[in-house]
Amino acid sequence: MDYADAADYEVFRRKVMMLTGIDLGLYKSQQMQRRIRSLLDKVGAATFAAYGNILQRDSEELKRFRDHIMINVSEFFRNPEKFKELEKKILPELLRNSPNLNIWSAGASNGAEIYSIAMVLDDIAPRGYHKLLATDIDSGAMAQALAGVYGALDVRNVSKDRLAKHFVKEGSSYVISPKIKSKVQFKMHNLLADRFERNFDLILCRNVVIYFTDDAKQVLYGKFRESLKDDGILFIGGTETILNSRELGFASTSPFFYRRAPLGKEAAAL
Ligand SMILES: C[S@@+](CC[C@H](N)C(=O)[O-])C[C@H]1O[C@@H](n2cnc3c(N)ncnc32)[C@H](O)[C@@H]1O
Repeated sequence: MDYADAADYEVFRRKVMMLTGIDLGLYKSQQMQRRIRSLLDKVGAATFAAYGNILQRDSEELKRFRDHIMINVSEFFRNPEKFKELEKKILPELLRNSPNLNIWSAGASNGAEIYSIAMVLDDIAPRGYHKLLATDIDSGAMAQALAGVYGALDVRNVSKDRLAKHFVKEGSSYVISPKIKSKVQFKMHNLLADRFERNFDLILCRNVVIYFTDDAKQVLYGKFRESLKDDGILFIGGTETILNSRELGFASTSPFFYRRAPLGKEAAAL
C-alpha cells in the first residue's frame, strides 16, 4: 500500500471510529480493506475517504457497512463433535465444581451458539440456576437472536429430539421455544473496547477473532483469562489455536478448549 492509500484508509478508520466506535486498526488491515472495497465499488466511491463521507450522511449505508464487515455466519451445534465433548466432558466437570454455571458467548451472532448451550444444560443440569450471557457488536445479529427464527440449514445439527422439544415449526422456519429463549440474556458489546464481566465458568469465543490483529487477540485472551474463574474454560473456534497459551495463563485441555491456569509468576510461586 503506498502512502496516499495508507493516508486515505487512516482518514476512513477515524471516521468509522467516530460513527460506530469500531476501531478498524484492531482488525487485520488487508482482509478488512478487501472486504470494504467491494462496498466502495457498489456505491461508486473512488476512495475510502469518499466512502466515509457517504457513511456519515446515509444511515442505511452505514448499517449495510456494519453488517458487511461483521460476518455473522453461525449455526446450532457448530462443530458437533466439539459440542459432544462439551456435553459429555467439559460441562459435567464444571458442574461438579458449581451446580449453577455462569457462561458467556462472546461474539454470539444470531444466538445459535448460546441457545445450543441452553438446550444441553436443559438436558444435563435442568435444576441449575445457570446464567447465560450472549453478546455481539452487531445490532442486526442481536435482533435476530432475540427473534429466534432460524432456517433449516441453521438447525441441521440439532437432534430430532431437541428439534421437537425446543422449536416450533412455522412454515419453513424453526422458532426457538420461549423456555430456551428466557434462559439467555443478550447485550450489545464490543470485545475490543467495552468492559468485561467476570466470574465465568465457561467463555465461548468462536470464529470471532479471525480478522483481529495478533496484538488485539493477545489483549483479548488476557482479558478472557481475567474474566474466568480459576479453572474456568475458554472454548475457541474450530480453525483457531492460541499459540502462546501457557504464556497467557491457559493450559490446553484438548484442541479448542483452554483452562485458566496460573500465569508464569503465579505458577512459580506455587
Ligand atoms: C462468524 S460469527 C461467530 C458466531 C458464533 N460464535 C459461532 O461460532 O457460530 C462472528 C461474530 O463476531 C462478531 N464480532 C466481530 N467483531 C466483534 C467485536 N469487536 N466485538 C463483539 N463482537 C464482534 C460479529 O458481529 C459476528 O456476529
